[in-house]
Amino acid sequence: MESLADFIAGMPKAELHLHIEGTLEPELMIALGRRNGISLPYPDAATARKAYNFSDLQSFLDIYYRATAVLITQEDFYDLTIAYLKKAASQNVRHAEIFFDPQSHTARGIPFETVISGIERALLEANSSLNISTKLIMCILRHLSEKEGFEIFDKAFAWKHWIAGIGLDSSERGNPAEKFMNLFELAHQEGFLTVAHAGEEGSADSVRQTLDILHVTRIDHGVHCMEDDALVAELAEKQIPLTVCPLSNVRLKVFESMKQHNLKAMLQKGLCVTVNSDDPAYFGGYVNENYIEAAKALQLDEKDIIQLAKNSFTASSLSSIHKQLYLTEIDRYIHQT
Ligand code: HPA
Ligand code: ZN
Repeated sequence: MESLADFIAGMPKAELHLHIEGTLEPELMIALGRRNGISLPYPDAATARKAYNFSDLQSFLDIYYRATAVLITQEDFYDLTIAYLKKAASQNVRHAEIFFDPQSHTARGIPFETVISGIERALLEANSSLNISTKLIMCILRHLSEKEGFEIFDKAFAWKHWIAGIGLDSSERGNPAEKFMNLFELAHQEGFLTVAHAGEEGSADSVRQTLDILHVTRIDHGVHCMEDDALVAELAEKQIPLTVCPLSNVRLKVFESMKQHNLKAMLQKGLCVTVNSDDPAYFGGYVNENYIEAAKALQLDEKDIIQLAKNSFTASSLSSIHKQLYLTEIDRYIHQT
């Protein structure tokens, strides 16, 4: 019998909560800084890694947005995205729904077109050469105004053929879901998939409001839903997916340690939870490491891993035929191991 880590590594998986800017490994950050003549607060990759000690979400976001300064050209966005896709494919990620934060680039004078065309070139290449399917989700920064959100949303219209969904990220505290009510209403009208971060630093109430006001298909993180039994019952009954990111939650002190994480309890409640890496360059691991660390600390077994992997496809925005194809891959994998 192979180890659980090997079982996880070989399992076909989807990744549904991944910020492409959060895949900027220190080595690439330093290289792009040199290439573009951008000075960074770190002399080398090892020093950067040592500085990645976060006390909460905001302390991470400050460092994460500052690092995006090295992303200037279409080539930079291509290099960033293809590096993630190669890593993901090597971990048997078969489908990825990828967030990008255009406002963090347009605010620095980088054209929207530069960002999206660099990312899209990598997605197309990965589709044919890495055997991985992808979708792109444009996130709105919630610390900015809804008006600024609408300005970037207008840009997305011209690139609608490349953008599957609209998401909401950045600081949850002080920026409630209702701030973006009109924008999400328009996103629905225009036929976009909608998702939003909630219940990461916010409470169960934030999850509830995000569902009731923004009517999103999935909740990103959502771990604090467990404070409200009625909400948990509703999420379980409707099988609303929660894209959980275990290493992120530990590194951003949402939980004191992996042993304290409520992933297993969420599974036991019948919630449609998935495992994701969020910002792997900052949190110490890609999707497999998230599964493995959570499995070790919470004593997840093969049955739990299979459930999580199946959830990752059923919670995706793939067509039912594509979901079925990937679920069949899982069944085939289970029977051959
Ligand atoms: N939460 C909110 N915003 C983010 C995150 C996160 O975990 N990662 C990148 N932007
Ligand atoms: Zn996130």
